[in-house]
Formats: sequence, C-alpha cells, structure tokens
Amino acid sequence: MSHAQLGRPAVAPPDAHPMSHAPGTDEPPDVGPGPAHVAIIMDGNGRWALGQGRERNAGHQSGLGPVRTVIEESVRHGIEALTLFAFSSENWARPADEVAAIMDLFCDALDRELPMLHSNGVRLRFIGDLAALEPRLRARAAEATAATAANARLCLQLAVSYGGRQDILTAARRLAARCVSGELNSSKLTMDDFASGLALAGLPDPDLFIRTGGEQRISNFLLWNLAYAELYFTDTLWPDFSAADFDLALQHFAGRQRRFGLTPAQLAS
Ligand code: FPP
Repeated sequence: MSHAQLGRPAVAPPDAHPMSHAPGTDEPPDVGPGPAHVAIIMDGNGRWALGQGRERNAGHQSGLGPVRTVIEESVRHGIEALTLFAFSSENWARPADEVAAIMDLFCDALDRELPMLHSNGVRLRFIGDLAALEPRLRARAAEATAATAANARLCLQLAVSYGGRQDILTAARRLAARCVSGELNSSKLTMDDFASGLALAGLPDPDLFIRTGGEQRISNFLLWNLAYAELYFTDTLWPDFSAADFDLALQHFAGRQRRFGLTPAQLAS
C-alpha cells in the first residue's frame, strides 16, 4: 500500500525538509525527511499566566510570540502546511470575558501580523465554524484570507471555532448531498471522496502533531486527518514554546519510523 493511499500524498524529495540548525549557521542541517504538514494544539496559556500571578488573558497575549516563531520556523524548514488550533468549538463555554479577550486578540493579530505573513510567503486560511464568529472578526479573517491567497511558501490554517467531529459530520453531509444528486454512487465512495469534504481538503494530512502544556490528548482536533500523524507531547507551556522546542519536535519526528501498518522488513525492501 502506498503512502498516497493512506492519505499521505507524495511530497518533496526526502531531503527537502531538513531538521535543526547547523551549529554556527542559520541553515538547518540535512538530517533526514521532515514533516510536510505540522498540526499544533497550543495549550498552557492560562497556567503560564497564573504561574506568574497574572490573569489568564495575559497568557493568551503572550501566546502570540510562539505563533510567530512556529510560522517563521516552518518556513525556514520548508514545511508546506501548518495548522494551529486557536479556539475549539468547546472553548465557547469559557467565561465570556475570556472569550471576548481571545476574539479581540485574534482581530488585533490579524491587523498587525499581515506584513509578517506576506514577508514569509504565508497563505492564511481559516477552518471551523466561522459563522459563529462576530462579524468584525469574520470580516478580518476574510480580508486576510484574500490578501494572502497568492502566497505559496507555507499554507497556514487557523482552526477557530473548530471541532473534529463537526468537521467529519459536515463532510458526511456534503457526501450525502452529492450521492442524492446522483453525482456520486454511494456504493463506490472512496476515502478521497470523503476527505474532499473535510476542512483540510487538498492538503497532505499532518505528519506531525505537537501538543504543548503537558496534556496527552487530541481534544477533538482533526480527528480524520491525524490518523497516521506522529504524536509529540511536551510539558512546555505554549507561551514558553521556542524555536529550539520546535526543532526538538522535528528531531523526534526524524527519529520515528513511519510504518503505516507495514512491518519493518516490508519497509526495508
Ligand atoms: C489554550 O490554552 C489556548 C487557547 C484557547 C487560545 C489560543 C490562543 C493563542 C495561542 C493566542 C494567539 C493565537 C493566534 C492564532 C493569533 P489554555 O487557555 O487552555 O491554557 P490552560 O490549559 O493552561 O488553561
């Protein structure tokens, strides 16, 4: 079975995504194939702030720095796609003032960070239930999406009001509608037909999943697309997550043997 059949489209040659810095240079050394797509749950903002005797919202504010860092590092490493879990469908249940502060932060960040996205060749898109967002954020998201649409170095997905089960349900509804219209035959549906209705349609599945903040769970993120992702958990709280921490995750990835259900002997042959 090929990687493409398992949702891992052929990507750049194995040496196209080198890992960590070469000592004394800014160039990453060539230490093996890197991930084409990295997905991150940015957890620990609240605990970071409380640990400093500050309000939780200060942690979200400080979480912006590492967002910049992982974008710039992804570009530097030649990673094709980066998907960040910024706000889950369950996060709406947080205290109203925290939700409002996070939404303000997203608006401000979209205004301020557009030049950084452009200078790094980043194409920004949003996944999730955007209809649930307040109109001013929805408008800024649409503007930023349109303004960066021609950039091609890194596809950045911000998951906002996103839930993996809802994503799968939406894809199932789209598929059902295509069957009812006669466009597709329900007895001949393929994995690709299904995946084409998901929020990440058209992108390779994430190869590497990173979660900061010490918890070891997926929390309803990209449930379909993470099927073969390598999972990497770190206790580092998101506001402390640095370029060196990202490099460490990439090094762990480089050390994993990805078997996609095959035996080591099959892979070797
Ligand atoms: C999870 O930490 C973090 C969030 C729900 C918000 C994520 C927002 C940012 C990282 C800020 C900037 C992001 C963008 C994309 C502009 P938590 O509050 O659950 O932390 P805790 O587990 O310590 O309570």
